[in-house]
Amino acid sequence: MHAQDIVTSFAESAKYIQSRLLSPTIDLAIVLGSGLSDFTQILENPTFISYQDIPNFPKTQVEGHGHQLVYGSIGDKKILLFSGRFHYYQGLPITTVAIPAWISYYMNIPRYVATNAAGGVNVNYQVGDLTLIKDHINPTGLNPLRGVQLDNWQNPFFDTSNLYNERLRESILKVAIAQGFSMKQGTSCFLPGPNFETPAEIEMLRTLGADLVGMSTVPETLTAHKLGMKVLAMSVVTNVYPKKNESGQQVSHQEVLEATTLASKKLHTLMKDWITLW
Ligand code: HPA
Repeated sequence: MHAQDIVTSFAESAKYIQSRLLSPTIDLAIVLGSGLSDFTQILENPTFISYQDIPNFPKTQVEGHGHQLVYGSIGDKKILLFSGRFHYYQGLPITTVAIPAWISYYMNIPRYVATNAAGGVNVNYQVGDLTLIKDHINPTGLNPLRGVQLDNWQNPFFDTSNLYNERLRESILKVAIAQGFSMKQGTSCFLPGPNFETPAEIEMLRTLGADLVGMSTVPETLTAHKLGMKVLAMSVVTNVYPKKNESGQQVSHQEVLEATTLASKKLHTLMKDWITLW
């Protein structure tokens, strides 16, 4: 299917979701990455919609990823949670991978928060660190907006200098400090996976200035930004890579899930206070 037809089909998905929810106004969309789906528990008065029931949603699933949409509130804020996302390594078109951003756009949601599990490329990063993404590198040649044209776009081009919204980052950093921890801010590199990186690739990423590496998020955040949303993205560092010529442990999906489970409590408290206070 052409990218344009894919995004048009998501308008129908959004219409279905809208028909299942009572309140049409939503303040924030949050996408939960690997091992982070427990977050659904902190929403008040939740309504659950299985991805399987939503028209035009892909039918694929990955271990450790939830597979449902949860609508609920935190204080007076209305939240739409995507518990589980879709990945390029699953064989889906890159435009499809950005589905949470498209649904948020069609539902007029003004803010978009992406969370994910990431590898620590920066040698100062530690397993369990909760980091903010301040910028990204996308060397894949893949772009979720290739071939997409909306009626109100004069051209396909767009600025990315404040893609990871500085104000949102500053506001969440303040909450973290109030809770007694500091958050690193790093540059994340998007690679398609499904392999974890080779030692040579890690050295290349370090040379390029990347601090983190992941297999998701960038297709969504690029799309959400182009569609006019304010974007924030956070990574849980689930594994770190050794320095050049030093030996380190092998990376596994199990390790990734264990690390996110440990860090998820910290993320919940942070997000809850941030959402309540902003
Ligand atoms: N590489 C890519 N994606 C990841 C990693 C990694 O090391 N860890 C968690 N997601």
